[in-house]
Amino acid sequence: MLVLDGKEVSGKVRASLVPRIEAFKARNERPPHLTVVIVGDDKASHVYVRNKKIACEKVGMTSTIHSLPADITQNELNELLETLNQDDAVDGILVQFPLPAHLSSHEVLKTVSPEKDADGLTYTSLGYFFAGQPTVRPCTPEGVMTILKHFNINVEGMRAVVVGRSNIVGKPMAHMLTEANATVTLCHSKTKNLSEYTKQADLVVVAAGKARLLGKDDFKKDAVVIDVGMHGTGNNGKLCGDVRFEELQGWAKAATPVPGGVGPMTITTLLQNTCLLAEKRALR
Ligand code: GUN
Repeated sequence: MLVLDGKEVSGKVRASLVPRIEAFKARNERPPHLTVVIVGDDKASHVYVRNKKIACEKVGMTSTIHSLPADITQNELNELLETLNQDDAVDGILVQFPLPAHLSSHEVLKTVSPEKDADGLTYTSLGYFFAGQPTVRPCTPEGVMTILKHFNINVEGMRAVVVGRSNIVGKPMAHMLTEANATVTLCHSKTKNLSEYTKQADLVVVAAGKARLLGKDDFKKDAVVIDVGMHGTGNNGKLCGDVRFEELQGWAKAATPVPGGVGPMTITTLLQNTCLLAEKRALR
């Protein structure tokens, strides 16, 4: 089985960003800047956000984290976002999800300027994306497409199954695979007999949000398996995905590990998006 090493792909893509960032700096007297907003004290989210900042700095970009108390109001959050929208030194804005229950991601996505939408999740960005027009694209599914391309996995004509229908992963993933000429089935938590679908697929992208949900028996021989899951406590406290990776050896053709598969590529796409947004805004 080919292990689809997301760190390897990330290293290559991030290295290719360095000269672009140098060129931006030479022209604009500052590097591209990403601002990350996090609300509350969810430990895992804080780890992800710190990793994003470290990744920015490693490629020569700068990053600020706005860490807000869990009881901030929607108005206060929106006001901060408006300030960041107006701040010429900010190229990308990312609000880490999930938010505390009293805050609305819908409000956030309406407020962040599409010109600074590092996540590719505002409705303007998604509109362009689903209409097939160039734009920043959602980071996780775009990272998956970059992994497939790097390992020369051509999905054209494949039967692909996506498990999960979120706006962040499942829906855009299904669209990207369709763009790449796969025949896509989108399954979700209400799908009956999920395994009947996944077992027919040449490629399965699992973004179900359930630790170790699928294993060898759910995939056909020589399937390509992409695991988008990230769970801190699903496997004796070890980080694990939605797939029982250890069962796939000798069965799947290729699969992404967790950690070290899709996760690093999500961050790498975020860096690409931020760089692109900075370059576009500087041209105006
Ligand atoms: N939480 C988990 N994944 C993501 C992501 O890609 N973007 C944001 N903003 N929050 C997330």
